[in-house]
Amino acid sequence: MFETLQTMPADAILGLIAEHRNDPRPEKIDLGVGVFRDAQGQTPILNSVKTAETRLLESQASKAYLGTAGAPEFNAAMQALTFADAVSGDRLVTIQTPGGSGSLRVAAGILLRARESVSVWVSEPTWANHVPLLGGAGLDLKPYPYYDTGNHVINVEAMIDALRAAPQGDVVLLHACCHNPSGIDPTEDEWRAIIDVIVERELLPFIDMAYQGFARGVDEDAFAIRELARRVPELIVCNSCSKNFGLYRDRVGSVSFLAADPATRDTVDSQVNNYVRTIYSMPPDHGAAVVGMILGDAELRAEWVGEVDAMRERLESMRVLLNDALIERNPARDFSHLVRANGMFCFLGVTPDEVRQLKQDYGVYMVDSSRINVAGITEQNVGYLADAIAAVVG
Ligand code: LMR
Repeated sequence: MFETLQTMPADAILGLIAEHRNDPRPEKIDLGVGVFRDAQGQTPILNSVKTAETRLLESQASKAYLGTAGAPEFNAAMQALTFADAVSGDRLVTIQTPGGSGSLRVAAGILLRARESVSVWVSEPTWANHVPLLGGAGLDLKPYPYYDTGNHVINVEAMIDALRAAPQGDVVLLHACCHNPSGIDPTEDEWRAIIDVIVERELLPFIDMAYQGFARGVDEDAFAIRELARRVPELIVCNSCSKNFGLYRDRVGSVSFLAADPATRDTVDSQVNNYVRTIYSMPPDHGAAVVGMILGDAELRAEWVGEVDAMRERLESMRVLLNDALIERNPARDFSHLVRANGMFCFLGVTPDEVRQLKQDYGVYMVDSSRINVAGITEQNVGYLADAIAAVVG
């Protein structure tokens, strides 16, 4: 049986973890996978998470099954974190999922239960795993223009034109904030114009929110979702708690469906729970229990918001640091888009050959597209990094 299988190439993002780990050069720098790092280059466990884990260890009385939807406290807290009071809760279904990827996979399955064939418009470019994950689930993916690589801005007009030409009822995948890979998000006015066309064409918004709190703030980053929820009858939101709670390996996420009315909401609820049972049966509990505890406790929640703010501020300051270091070395070359981007990522804006050279000659690792994770920059390595980039771009 297995002899018919073909070896697959390493994942474009995850493959870099092993490549970097196996590089013996002490000066190597990892700007690959989207994992937060502090000023010492570590990915610490948040204090709010540690406290909640300690309390959980002391108070948890059972490991019995919770069911397909996971923990009700977590689901209610994630729903509130995402939608606040933008929409009535009797139109919403939220369930706990194994990470953001798990939530995308559940969303894809439900779309395909609702309709035999579903076209989903995705930004060009988008997260490298959106296409295999959603395409592999059976959705028909079509690109809409988003990032203008030459000018490092969003081509909003082209995006809106493409959405205006999309058949009524198609699905449009949006990044709520911290667009992955470009880091360039629409302004609030641009969001309103995008939402106008979504409403006009009766498109179904399918929103990926993997970085809530990393662009402007926990509430601010939900702007597009809440604005959409006020204006459309149906939408889907996929949340990941990997980055903003630092719970990467614990696989914590949620998926929310907004239905047109409470009766349809109940049907969606039954479908979602039935669907989950046919794929992974139930989500893992530990990380979600931690998130539920943090969001449900005023003090822990305030500490967590402070920790998210600190992560965001570090990312912002590393962008400025690298841009300044590059200006010193190569004033003729404009890298100011590094500072205009939000969250962990942006494109460095170098060629695939230059990406290869940075890896081979300097041990600087990034995705082939030249997407960099700015959390990999520190006060200690920025000089070496800027020297390497300046040398490679000439
Ligand atoms: C990334 O884009 O690097 C992260 O979302 C991690 C991943 O799973 O790809």
